[in-house]
This record gives sequence, structure tokens and C-alpha cells, in this order.
Amino acid sequence: MSTAISPTAYNYKVVRQFAIMTVVWGILGMGLGVFIASQLVWPELNFGLPWTTFGRLRPLHTNLVIFAFGGCALFATSYYVVQRTCQTRLISDSLAAFTFWGWQAVIVGAIITLPLGYTTTKEYAELEWPLAILLAIVWVTYGLVFFGTITKRNTKHIYVGNWFYGAFIVVTAMLHIVNHASLPVSFFKSYSAYSGATDAMIQWWYGHNAVGFFLTTGFLGMMYYFVPKQAERPIYSYRLSIVHFWALITLYIWAGPHHLHYTALPDWAQSLGMAMSIILLAPSWGGMINGMMTLSGAWHKLRTDPILRFLVVSLAFYGMSTFEGPMMAIKTVNSLSHYTDWTIGHVHAGALGWVAMISIGAIYHMIPKLFGRTQMHSVGLINAHFWLATIGTVLYIASMWVNGITQGLMWRAINDDGTLTYSFVEALQASHPGFIVRALGGAFFASGMLLMAYNVWRTVRASNPAEAKAAEQIAVVGAH
Ligand code: HEM
Ligand code: HEM
Repeated sequence: MSTAISPTAYNYKVVRQFAIMTVVWGILGMGLGVFIASQLVWPELNFGLPWTTFGRLRPLHTNLVIFAFGGCALFATSYYVVQRTCQTRLISDSLAAFTFWGWQAVIVGAIITLPLGYTTTKEYAELEWPLAILLAIVWVTYGLVFFGTITKRNTKHIYVGNWFYGAFIVVTAMLHIVNHASLPVSFFKSYSAYSGATDAMIQWWYGHNAVGFFLTTGFLGMMYYFVPKQAERPIYSYRLSIVHFWALITLYIWAGPHHLHYTALPDWAQSLGMAMSIILLAPSWGGMINGMMTLSGAWHKLRTDPILRFLVVSLAFYGMSTFEGPMMAIKTVNSLSHYTDWTIGHVHAGALGWVAMISIGAIYHMIPKLFGRTQMHSVGLINAHFWLATIGTVLYIASMWVNGITQGLMWRAINDDGTLTYSFVEALQASHPGFIVRALGGAFFASGMLLMAYNVWRTVRASNPAEAKAAEQIAVVGAH
């Protein structure tokens, strides 16, 4: 496919590239998730080699699913949405291409370095300094392309979806740069610029806002465009979306200390994190309700449209995980849930149910439009994918709730004479059935991604270059 040079055409080339890579990285990242879940069932799968141990593959899983799969979905959709809602082409084709190739290079760097054991040891920020610098450069370029495009828009108004994408881009740059401040001592080893409790606080300020801005705010940008488009209804309340935006970004940034309850962090900071997390329920649910209510008058479409089902069910899981999160942030609840599989279940309610489902729905919406087709090759396969994803998510999170509460209660059970009732190994044995169900749920979810790859491939193959080119023409104002 060639890029149209005409300023009256959208740059869909970069959107297509990121959209296709979302599917590719989704399969790899989730396939690796199934593999590490299986290692917890059958430890022999560690193969006795350092490179294939759970400890090294787990961060590769998180990097692949969050930054490769989620990141590509965010790049693809933000470039698509910003062009269509601003009725203009991206400000620079070459900078956009640089973000694509630069981002893929960071991911390939992660695939090579993490199994080799090169890591900063900071969760979700494991990449060592040369890759972290490349990532920062790519990200700043992304900001230039995104905001540059907004400045040359042909519409008066900046659609609310772009506000969410914009905040996600700015805050992610800030978090990444501050948390990665470090002293390199060799090409693949650096030490954090912070120490002790300060280091922990900076790391979880980063970690929590990676959730808040990368895994939430960016995907809310996606929600504000794709839910109304797929439902063919205007957003339920534009006013609520503005309140939602400001409340969410103001509150999220304070909630990080809930990851450090009962640690050396000052008690007041822990309580502040807890309070802010509880308040966070309000904007989270405000956004969820705004998305859900957009379907008023269009609920019947759910019977026939599996893409809309992906989008709506993702909102339901978003609502669920943002109810669970504030609850887990309460110190007494956290004393039970922390260190257990409950956290892992919460993570995947958000990751599979919300992040992956909304991305999948958005990609299914975009692919035919990007390639000049009227719809995906097979609606039946999207439907099958929807059920595999939904059943997979439910199996995953239900098994982790059971495991988490079992572990928490067994660890704290004490006999009359003050000794522990259960050994750690007994709790681990009790967790084994849950590990099997989780691996099965993951396999369901990942196999749905294979159906998606086939469906996307057939749709793309059916398109011819002339059709794809025609799709790039900028529609008349008001038709985005
Ligand atoms: C109002 C919203 C939310 C709140 C208040 C919240 C709160 C929490 C709490 C209290 C924990 C456990 C911390 C610990 O014990 O160590 C946690 C962990 C986590 N949450 Fe949430 N959560 C929210 C929404 C979400 C969403 C929507 C996602 C995913 C898209 C998510 C992803 C995660 C991740 C990845 C972790 C694990 C971090 C780690 O320990 O590695 N959260 N969250
Ligand atoms: C087929 C789907 C998936 C499977 C089977 C899977 C499996 C796993 C497993 C086994 C772990 C390690 C749990 C532990 O240490 O006990 C894990 C961690 C994690 N996964 Fe997944 N995963 C999947 C998809 C995803 C997706 C799509 C995302 C994000 C968008 C994601 C984000 C994470 C995160 C953030 C953690 C670290 C959690 C923490 O430290 O608290 N996963 N996953």
C-alpha cells in the first residue's frame, strides 16, 4: 500500500500498520500469558534454563500485552480518531512512520533483553536505559504528531476522545521520564536515581498511573469514539464526558500509595492513597455509565452486532474492576488481598475484560474501513471470538478470586497457641485447581485472538489497492 501524499487524504498507512501489529502482538503476548500460566500448573515447563523461567518470561508477558498489544491499539486508534475528528491528515507522515518503527524496535528490544535477564527490576518499567531512552524519543515524537495534527484541524471543536488520548500521551511521557531517572553503570545496567521508600513511591506513582493513564485514560479515548460510532448514537452526555475527564485525571495521580500499604511509606501517604482511590470510583463509574447509556435506544443492536457486544461488555468489566479496585485499596481489605491471586484476578478483569475487549472491538470496527471494505470477512467468527473472550475472562477472574481469598485466609489462620495453621506449601496446593482453570480461561481468550487473525487476514486479502486508497479520502465535515 502506498501512502497518499494528498493533504485531502488521511494517513491510513500508519493506522493499518499499528492495527495489524495489535493482532500480532496480542497473539504473542497472550500466548506467552498462557505459557506462564501453564508453568504455574506444571513447573517442568521452566525447562531448567534461565531464559525460560517464569521470573524472566513474566515481565516479557506484561511488556508484550501492555506496551506491544495495548500500545499498538492505542497508536492505531488515536491516529485514526485524531484524523477523522479533526478532518485532517496527520501533520507528518515521516514522524508517524518513525513512531511505528521506533515502537516496534523497543518491543523487539524487550523480547531480546528481558529473557536474557537485563532488567531495572521496576515493574512495568523493566527496560534498561538504552531502550528506555529510545522509548522516550518515540513517545515525544508521538506527542508531536498527535498535538501537531490537532493544531491543524479543520474543525472548531476538539472532540472529547482526543482530550483523553492527549492526557494519556502527556502523562505517560512524564511518568516514564521521571521514573526512569537512573545512573547507567554499563550498557545494560543502571541504578535508580532514587533510594529506599522514595524509590518505592516514585515507582508506584509510575506503576499506578501506568494503569490510570496507559491502561485507562487512553482506552477511554477509544471508548468515546468507537462506542458512539458502532452504536450509531451520539454520546449520552457530552457534559458528563467533560466532568469525567477532569475528575479522572485530577484524582488518578494521587492513588499510587495503595500499592504500598503496610510498608515503610509514611502512614499519611498510605491513607491519602486509600482515600483518593475510593473517590476514584465516582469518575470511573461516571465514564462507564456515559458509555453504557449511549446505547439507549440501540440496545437491540446487541442481538446482531458482536462488535458492539465487545465494546459494551468491555465497559461492564471496566465498571467491575473500578469497583473492585477502590475496595482493594481499603487498608483492611488490602491486608487480605495483597500478595494473593486476588490482585492477579483484578488485573486481568481490567486487562482482559476492559483493555483487550475494547481494543478488539475497535480493531474490528476499523479494519474494514481502513481497507475499503464494508464489513469484516466473517461476522460469525467475530461472534465466536466474543464468546471465547467472555468465557475466558470469567474463568480467569473467578478462579483468581477463589485462589486469592483462599490464600489470604490460609496465610492468616492462626492456632490457639499462636502458631500458623497452614504452611505456605499447603496454601500453594490449595491453589493448584485455580491455576488449571486460569490457564484454561487464558487458552480460551488467546484462541479467540487466532480467529481474529484469520478474519483480519481474509478481510485484508479481499481488499484491492484502489479500494483501500478510496477509503483514505477525507469525508465532508460532519461525517466523521
Ligand atoms: C478506580 C480504579 C482502580 C483502583 C482504585 C484500583 C486499585 C488497585 C489496588 C488497590 C490494587 C492492589 C495493590 C496491591 O495490593 O498491591 C491494584 C492492583 C492493580 N490494578 Fe487496579 N485499580 C483500579 C482499576 C484498575 C484497572 C481498570 C486496571 C486495568 C486496566 C487495573 C490494573 C491493576 C494492575 C495491573 C494492578 C497490579 C499492580 C501490581 O502489583 O503489579 N486497575 N489496583
Ligand atoms: C490469554 C491471556 C492472558 C493470560 C493467560 C495471562 C496470564 C498471566 C499470568 C499467569 C500472570 C502472572 C501471574 C502471577 O504472577 O501469579 C500474568 C501477569 C500479568 N498480566 Fe497477564 N495474562 C493474559 C493477558 C493479559 C493482558 C491482555 C494483559 C494487559 C493488557 C495482561 C496484563 C498482566 C499484568 C499487568 C500482569 C502482572 C500482574 C501483577 O503483577 O499484579 N495480561 N498474566
